[in-house]
Amino acid sequence: MLSKPHDRLAARFEAKLDAVGALIRARMESRHAPRIPEVTAHLVGAGGKRLRPMLTLAAADICGYRGENDEKLAATVEFIHTATLLHDDVVDESSQRRGRATANLLWDNKSSILVGDYLFSRSFQLMVETGNLRVLDILANASATIAEGEVLQLTAARDLATSEEIYLQVVRGKTAALFSAATEVGGVIAGAPDDQTAALYDYGDALGIAFQIADDLLDFQGDTAATGKNIGDDFRERKLTLPIIKAVAQADATERAFWRRTIEKGDQQDGDLDHAIALMQSHGALDSARVDALSWAAKAGVALEILPDHPVRDILADLAGYVVSRIN
Ligand code: IPE
Ligand code: IPE
Ligand code: MG
Ligand code: MG
Repeated sequence: MLSKPHDRLAARFEAKLDAVGALIRARMESRHAPRIPEVTAHLVGAGGKRLRPMLTLAAADICGYRGENDEKLAATVEFIHTATLLHDDVVDESSQRRGRATANLLWDNKSSILVGDYLFSRSFQLMVETGNLRVLDILANASATIAEGEVLQLTAARDLATSEEIYLQVVRGKTAALFSAATEVGGVIAGAPDDQTAALYDYGDALGIAFQIADDLLDFQGDTAATGKNIGDDFRERKLTLPIIKAVAQADATERAFWRRTIEKGDQQDGDLDHAIALMQSHGALDSARVDALSWAAKAGVALEILPDHPVRDILADLAGYVVSRIN
């Protein structure tokens, strides 16, 4: 019995996911620049959960789609995701991704940025092949919104005045925009009525927010073996993620001095990460962020209610619980 919703989706869409994988492998080729498939294969070959392409396939299926354009869109979405990961690891100076050394570490920043750009462009070629202008509009908007979220995060980093509202804006942009686009285009390609595509958008948006809050908690509480990423990267990068924002809001004078030194000034010493975690714990900041993630997951579940009765709809409902179960 496959209990994890993620595995149930993978089993249900096995044939389509194979087709998506084949599309990705075919389109990451480059006739002139062997560095492109080299770098891409390193990242793509490490797997990844393939959450976003499964969301597109699932949304299309729930809305009764029977063609093959969902595969192109799923590959587009995963391509966009892959491009943003290459760029993100440069921006975050990360050294581990999907349990492997990052491309920026193995090759260099230049290769990661340029190959990321190539993948972005390839993703646009793929979606154009669907011939659906609305889908182009949604995915072009999502790409712009992701970049906007990353830039907003850049300017909010190191700023102790960052509010939960700004955090939400960042997360909606950098993460949820691609989740909501992934689900919405699935409905659009199926010709679903507006209330259904809107529900799919809302589901993806709330799921993406829940997912990113969970990811930010795992940056303090996870373990590298499970996430394939380094722990403490956000703190080292002086990022104001939700648990820190909540702890800073309750800091006394001594604690404020600690946050000012480590986050504002970036003067970090051995033991600071542990102390930061202890402060977050003492103010219930980690628990409170967990409650927020659960509440976004619940919102995702509610959004699905107007969709047609469908076994895949039930899996998506379970998936909302699953993305936050990593932090329970
Ligand atoms: C990583 O996304 C980027 C975030 C939005 C946190 P995933 O956790 O879905 O990455 P892969 O594709 O499974 O590696
Ligand atoms: C995830 O950003 C969003 C994008 C990749 C655009 P993060 O920097 O929070 O994600 P991880 O932790 O590196 O996967
Ligand atoms: Mg990162
Ligand atoms: Mg980042």
